[in-house]
Amino acid sequence: MKCTISQDITAGVDLIRAGELVAFATETVYGLGANALDSEAVARIFEVKQRPHFDPLIVHISNVNQLDQLTLGLSKQAEKLAEQFWPGPLTLVVPKTEVVPDLVTSGLGSVAIRIPAHPIARQLLEATKLPIAAPSANKFGCLSPTLAQHVEEQLGNEIKLILDGGPCSVGVESTVIQCIDEIPVLLRPGGISLEEIEACIGRVRIAKIEDHAEVKSPESPGMLPKHYAPRARLVIADKLDQLPAKGVNGLLSLYPLEETFLKGSQFSAQEILSPAGDLRVAAAKLFTALRNLDSAGVENIVALRMPEKGLGRTINNRLDRAAES
Ligand code: TXA
Ligand code: MG
Repeated sequence: MKCTISQDITAGVDLIRAGELVAFATETVYGLGANALDSEAVARIFEVKQRPHFDPLIVHISNVNQLDQLTLGLSKQAEKLAEQFWPGPLTLVVPKTEVVPDLVTSGLGSVAIRIPAHPIARQLLEATKLPIAAPSANKFGCLSPTLAQHVEEQLGNEIKLILDGGPCSVGVESTVIQCIDEIPVLLRPGGISLEEIEACIGRVRIAKIEDHAEVKSPESPGMLPKHYAPRARLVIADKLDQLPAKGVNGLLSLYPLEETFLKGSQFSAQEILSPAGDLRVAAAKLFTALRNLDSAGVENIVALRMPEKGLGRTINNRLDRAAES
């Protein structure tokens, strides 16, 4: 199959309406989209991604008016969050209607919904007038794509069109919050920080991977321990004195490290996420930096843990999961 990279929204609309897949830019990561109301089209997403069917998809919409068709209603907290953070990198898990195919939600009684902010995603959603189910446009378990070229490398032989919107400005996936019970649950940290969420709706419960003994039916399957992984083995160092001395290693850090700290350690490649220490900038660079280290051919990537605040928490979550073996 020949894959086109373009900004041809009309071509995207035709493909989606015909039940085919289209990869498209969002502000978080590139998505692999299909008509969310067409089970056969959605089945293709799982096939192309090699994604297990127990891992449900996010349904993207352009407008809150589409909520009635898909959900049984939003809780007070969900409404507040939607008002403050949509369009943007926030996904709300809410009770679903019969209209949403079971394949989309892996048979759960809830559906994950997001209104993205990126103009390419918005134009596609507005022009199709359809809800679009879209996971990140990568093979299951691999690094998420933040450039059209990343999608082409992994899925170029299996899809016809990638709608190019340049580099993703947020660069990590959306924050997923389940708003079903009285206390909302943070299922996946993402582009909106926990601090911003709690400033909006007060305390939330934070779901822990360890809470899920049954890996086959986790509360949010995106919490599967091993995920977002580069090819190289990833090791997390909490402190500089934990840096290994031997091997062909790459280093991932927030700030540049002084020569004196590096003494004794050998790094054949180094990625610095934000010399100014800006965790938003760092998040936007994370997946590209991990890809660069893979391309440099290192065996191990040593990642220095980020400060556990703001988007540092999201970066640490992705690093922890990439480090699972
Ligand atoms: O930023 C993003 O969220 C990107 C862009 C394309 O929108 N999408 C994305 O999709 O990251 P994906 O499939 O890689 O992650 C979806 C997450 C998974 O952790 C999944 O388990 C969770 O959302 N999810 C979806 N439906 C759910 C549900 N009904 N209950 C709990 N978790 C759900
Ligand atoms: Mg993903």
